[in-house]
Amino acid sequence: QKKYRVTIVGSGNWGSVAAKLIASNTLKLSSFHDEVRMWVFEETLQTGEKLTDIINQTNENVKYLPGIKLGKNVVADPDLERAVKDANMLVFVTPHQFMEGICKRLVGKIKGDAQAISLIKGMEVKMEGPRMISSLINEQLGVNCCVLMGANIANEIAVEKFSEATIGYREDEEVAQRWVRLFSTPYFLVSAVQDVEGVELCGTLKNVVAIAAGFVDGLEMGNNTKAAIMRIGLKEMKAFSKLMFPSVKDSTFFESCGVADLITTCLGGRNRKVAEAFARTGGKRSFNELEAELLQGQKLQGVSTAREVYEVLNQRGWQELFPLFRTVHEICIGRLPPSAIVQHSGSATKFS
Ligand code: NAD
Ligand code: 13P
Repeated sequence: QKKYRVTIVGSGNWGSVAAKLIASNTLKLSSFHDEVRMWVFEETLQTGEKLTDIINQTNENVKYLPGIKLGKNVVADPDLERAVKDANMLVFVTPHQFMEGICKRLVGKIKGDAQAISLIKGMEVKMEGPRMISSLINEQLGVNCCVLMGANIANEIAVEKFSEATIGYREDEEVAQRWVRLFSTPYFLVSAVQDVEGVELCGTLKNVVAIAAGFVDGLEMGNNTKAAIMRIGLKEMKAFSKLMFPSVKDSTFFESCGVADLITTCLGGRNRKVAEAFARTGGKRSFNELEAELLQGQKLQGVSTAREVYEVLNQRGWQELFPLFRTVHEICIGRLPPSAIVQHSGSATKFS
C-alpha cells in the first residue's frame, strides 16, 4: 500500500491548527507517513531565537498559536524547497497575498505524483481577470488542487471545540476522500462536495461581508442591522459566484463553507474585529495600522479581497449589481464613511 507524505506550506494561526489536526491523523492512519513537515516563514522573535527552532524544541508555535502542542511528529522547516521535496500531499495555508511568490519558487520543485489542497481564503486579480488561489496552484505547479473551507475559527478548533468543514473537489472523489481522512477528527467533521469554485468563493467572499459586519459593530447599530448586512452579503456572495462560474451549486451555500462560515466570521473573526476598530476611530486610523496593532503579525484577508472584488466589478461592469461589496471597498480606502455601509448596501434589497 502506498504511504503518503504530507507537507504543510504555511504556519500561521490556521496553518498551525491544520498541522495539529493532520499530525494526530498521520500517527493513527497507516496510509500516511507519521512525520508532517511544516514550512515556516522564518522570523526572529524578540528573544533573539528563531521561530523554527522554538517550534522544533517545544512543539508549539509560540507566535501564532501559543499554548497548543502541535504534535511531536510536526517538523518545522524554514527551507521551502526542501520542505516540499518529498511530499505527495501538499497543504497550502498562507495569507493569499504571498501565494504568487511561493508558487514561483516551487515551479519544478515538487514531486510528479503530488496532490494539493488549499485552505487559503482569497483570489488574485490581474489585467487578464480574476484567478482563484486553487487555480493559481493548479496552473503554476501543474497539480490537482482541492480546497478546504468552513466555519473554522482556528483558535476554537485548537482547543478541540466541535466544528465542520467542507472540501471542494473537481473530479477525483477518491483523492477528495483521502483529504477527508487526513483532516477528520471527532471534533472536526469534514465532508466533500464536487464544487471547488463554489466552496472557494464562499470562503473568499465571506471575508468582505465580515468587514461590513465589523463596521456595523463599530457603529453600534445592533443585531438586526448586522443580520440584514449578513443576508445581503450572502446574496451578493451567491450572485457573484454564479456570475463568475455558472457551475457553482446552490447547495454549496448551505454547507459549512457557506452560511456557517459567514456567521462565525461575522461574529468572531479577525476581519470583523479590525473593521470594528476602524469604524470606532471614524476611519482615522488605517487598516494596516490597526491590523499590526490588533493582530500582532496575523493577517487580514477581507480588505485586500474587497479591493480585488472591486476590480472584478469594474472589469466586468457589475458595479451596480453589488452595492455591499462595492461600498466595503470604498469605506476601506476612505472614499466613504463607515456609516455608508447601511445607506448604500440597503439598495441591494432591490435585487433578488
Ligand atoms: P496568520 O494570519 O495567522 O499568519 C500570517 C502568516 O503569514 C504567518 O505564518 C507569517 O509567518 C506569514 N508571513 C508573513 N510574511 C510572509 C511572507 N512574506 N511570505 C510568506 N509568509 C509570510 O495565518 P493563517 O491564519 O494561518 O491564515 C492563512 C490562511 O488561512 C488565510 O487565507 C486565512 O483566511 C485562512 N484561514 C484562517 C483561519 C483562522 O482562524 N486563522 C481560519 C480559516 C481560514
Ligand atoms: P478571520 O480571518 O476573519 O478571522 O476568519 C477566519 C475564518 O476564515 C473562519 O472560518
